[in-house]
Amino acid sequence: MEKTCVLLDPGYIIAPVDPRIFGGFLEHLGRAIYGGIFDPQSSLADEHGFRKDVLAALHNLHLTTVRYPGGNFASGYHWMDGIGPKDKRPRARELAWQCIEPNQFGTDEFLGLARRMGWLPMITVNLGTGTPEEACNWVEYCNSPAGTRYADLRVANGSIDPYGVRLWCLGNEMDGPWQLGHLPAEQYALLASQTAKMMKDIDPTIELVACGSSTMSGPTYMEWDRIVLEYLGPQVEYISLHRYVGNPRGDTADYLAVTNTIDRRIEDLDAVCRFVQAKTRSKKRHYLCFDEWNVWYRTTGVEDSRGKGQVAPPLLEEFYNLEDALVVAGFLNSFIRHADAVKIANIAQMVNVIAPIHTRGDQILLQSIYYPLAMFSNRREGGEVALHPVVNGPAYESPSYGEVKYIDVSAILGDGIMHVFMINRSLNEDAVVEINPGGSKFESILSAEVVTGSSPQDRNTYEEPYRVISRSFGAGKVVDGKALVSLPPLSFVAFTLSIQ
Ligand code: AHR
Repeated sequence: MEKTCVLLDPGYIIAPVDPRIFGGFLEHLGRAIYGGIFDPQSSLADEHGFRKDVLAALHNLHLTTVRYPGGNFASGYHWMDGIGPKDKRPRARELAWQCIEPNQFGTDEFLGLARRMGWLPMITVNLGTGTPEEACNWVEYCNSPAGTRYADLRVANGSIDPYGVRLWCLGNEMDGPWQLGHLPAEQYALLASQTAKMMKDIDPTIELVACGSSTMSGPTYMEWDRIVLEYLGPQVEYISLHRYVGNPRGDTADYLAVTNTIDRRIEDLDAVCRFVQAKTRSKKRHYLCFDEWNVWYRTTGVEDSRGKGQVAPPLLEEFYNLEDALVVAGFLNSFIRHADAVKIANIAQMVNVIAPIHTRGDQILLQSIYYPLAMFSNRREGGEVALHPVVNGPAYESPSYGEVKYIDVSAILGDGIMHVFMINRSLNEDAVVEINPGGSKFESILSAEVVTGSSPQDRNTYEEPYRVISRSFGAGKVVDGKALVSLPPLSFVAFTLSIQ
């Protein structure tokens, strides 16, 4: 393959990288919570019922924001069912995933865990079957000092200090007919506006996320977003977007080009935000909250997504391979390249349900997608601004997503360092890449890791858990202030370089 030249001039700054793009998502769905992160019966559980091995694996991902309690689950959830003495909490019918919800994990368990893990909690209120009042009471429970009804309830439940939850989502995927309480855009905007007003009356410091379009294929794509932003604009800070991708046709080259549409998805919604800002002559720019994203296509059928009245059945348990890991890296590259627009992003999800971490009995499996996530989020400290990469190199035509370069790049500049993230999409060729830091000079490669394998279908199993992992990478050097690297086929590499 012809050499690729990447210009990463420290002067070509896009915007600061918001650390909240390295976020996660925990839904009451399948074995994400019960039998996943929270499993009091497990021999590996701590005194609070959390799986120690799962927490350790999550700790290594350094997640920032974590969204809770859904997802589709949120649209039927009444938060007061999940607080107070556990033996008094109801077992409830759960309609989104057709499960039984035992309510043994709720607001206090989640927020206690978030404190312990250093996560920034992000709560989705129920705008499906809930009311504005129920949402504003939840804000009082979480954020108000003692002295009024719901804040005192929190104190009675053991948390004297307010939790200070800053980020709140006004419902989930309310544009989708599958959503409990789905509404047309105008009606959603009205309900969300009433809810936002009451929530901010309780705590004016909170930040709100309006529901944007949940898929690119829905009939109201972008029109929903325009209507919602025109109406709710003054009351919200962010608008959400979701994206799940997959390779149902088994065409790896085509699949790896899907990141073109991730860029497009972000740019479409950012364009609507700017259109509404211009139309309403507003000073306020709305930013994007990519609060669900991942690979999800193998377990979308009824068998995998309907709980048939069970508590914590195995639902949406995807097993990920090498090509999925490269696509996950592609999502994060895209978020960094759009650092001016994307301020929050949450991989969906964290444990067992379309997740980087899987459990089976007392065993734990780190899936292929775990490794790129860790390679990015471990580099968020010390990184400050996203750089605009200028990539000159060979490309190919993908049947579904158009032309795409073999090498996909993002970069973050810090104080005397640059983090560079690169994917080689070629199925069978090494790619020689020269990275030119413009007017600056690289001094040395401080660290580098690679995720690769011999086949796009390579994956980790309980029997062979270390097939697709990150390994230290040595095929790079600095020559005359530029970095020269050779990326193996089907690989993702993360570097940290020192720069003058
Ligand atoms: O993450 C799984 C589901 O995908 C979420 O509950 C929903 O919001 C989306 O459709």
